Amino acid sequence: MREIIEPFRIRAVEPIQFSTPEQRRQWLEEASWNPFLIDAEGVIIDLLTDSGTSAMSAAQWAAIMIGDESYAGSRSFRKFEAVVQEIFGFRHVIPTHQGRASEKILCTVLAGPGKAIPNNNHFDTTRANVEFTGAEAVDLVIDEGRDPDSLHPFKGNLDPNKLRAFLENCRSARRQVPFGMVTITNNTGGGQPVSMANIKEISAIYREFGVPFIIDACRFAENAWFIKQREPEYRDWTPKAIAQEMFRHADGATMSLKKDGFGNIGGFLALNDDALAEQCRNILILTEGFPTYGGLAGRDLEALAVGLHEVLDEHYLEYRAATTRYLAEKLNAIGIHTVQPPGGHAIYVDAKRFYPHLAPTQFPAQVLVCELYLRGGIRAVEIGSVMFGRNVDGVETPSDRELVRLALPRRVYTQAHVNYVAEVFAETFAERESARGLEFTYQAPILRHFTARFRSL
Ligand SMILES: Cc1ncc(COP(=O)(O)O)c(C=O)c1O
Repeated sequence: MREIIEPFRIRAVEPIQFSTPEQRRQWLEEASWNPFLIDAEGVIIDLLTDSGTSAMSAAQWAAIMIGDESYAGSRSFRKFEAVVQEIFGFRHVIPTHQGRASEKILCTVLAGPGKAIPNNNHFDTTRANVEFTGAEAVDLVIDEGRDPDSLHPFKGNLDPNKLRAFLENCRSARRQVPFGMVTITNNTGGGQPVSMANIKEISAIYREFGVPFIIDACRFAENAWFIKQREPEYRDWTPKAIAQEMFRHADGATMSLKKDGFGNIGGFLALNDDALAEQCRNILILTEGFPTYGGLAGRDLEALAVGLHEVLDEHYLEYRAATTRYLAEKLNAIGIHTVQPPGGHAIYVDAKRFYPHLAPTQFPAQVLVCELYLRGGIRAVEIGSVMFGRNVDGVETPSDRELVRLALPRRVYTQAHVNYVAEVFAETFAERESARGLEFTYQAPILRHFTARFRSL
């Protein structure tokens, strides 16, 4: 086996602003121990998200120059529409500015009070859009998907038995399920894939109950790659053929092209049903724009049409999976526990086991996020009690997991950058016993992690 190399040359670069530990301490204190509140210029390696942070290719930048900005019937839209139809296979392509706009439109038309929408795990914005209409977002991932140590190859699978039981209950309670979903890969569960067998099985169940099946397709190419690697009958298929096969079993998709579209902005809603598509286009005109540009400029549509082909390249996907695996292996070799197996776009570090001396009410994952920033200028995100814990009348109820997510932007960082991240982790781990906890000095009533302020204990 030869080394898997970055399958690109770099001819446009963005300098990194270096900083000293003293500067970072000052900035972190000014940000009240919340790296969300630090300016990006103060960050050396930014692993906050893989969304909208990809590097575009020379071909994508070139496509931007030929964008057709016509208000109606733009040539760039026709090109975009043709590429989406080719890969995803749905009749109607509705362009939006990002994934949540697609969710908002679909939920506005179909969801509503008393209804229920199942999924393996709803991503935050999907859940928020479902709940905003008064409907319930129900998570039915397989039990292995909740176990950080399970080595199940498809931990994102939606449990078919739970789905059947849930739909039967809804039917007998006369509760409407206006559509059902699956998220590929399952971001909330650690970027874990969903198998083709599972997609086929849940599609058949949704059809049996007359429920339209919508795929949240943000990381569809990474999911296709895992199917190729882990489901023997697809070993010889191209990622594109696997993607086409996945979507053949669905009635529509919501998509954030800020992930597997190599876009810095962009999304779409794709549907087969003519009447539903017409209703969605009417909302699109109200909130996003005319149906042939939606929330985007013609130049964006051009770049995304190119990105959707590039993301299905086997050399790219092999490299992409190798980067997350490489980082996980480096951390595991130091003795650091990560959610297994590594996901497609991110690594999740178990901060409870990193800092066994810190109680969940001292926010160990937030402490680790701060330490990584102080020591190496690395920005990660806490997925633990700050994000999912609750404070009622001053009493903290912690989350059951304390994780730190390291999300890898696409085609942005090299192997040396990843080695640097591992070195900073090694140093942080060696001195872990000296780490002290945090306490809140301010928290907003909802989504508190974005604006929270802390004091070091
Ligand atoms: C699985 C999943 N669905 C939906 C979204 C929402 O997409 P956007 O951020 O483009 O609105 C995201 C974004 O992170 C996601 O990961």
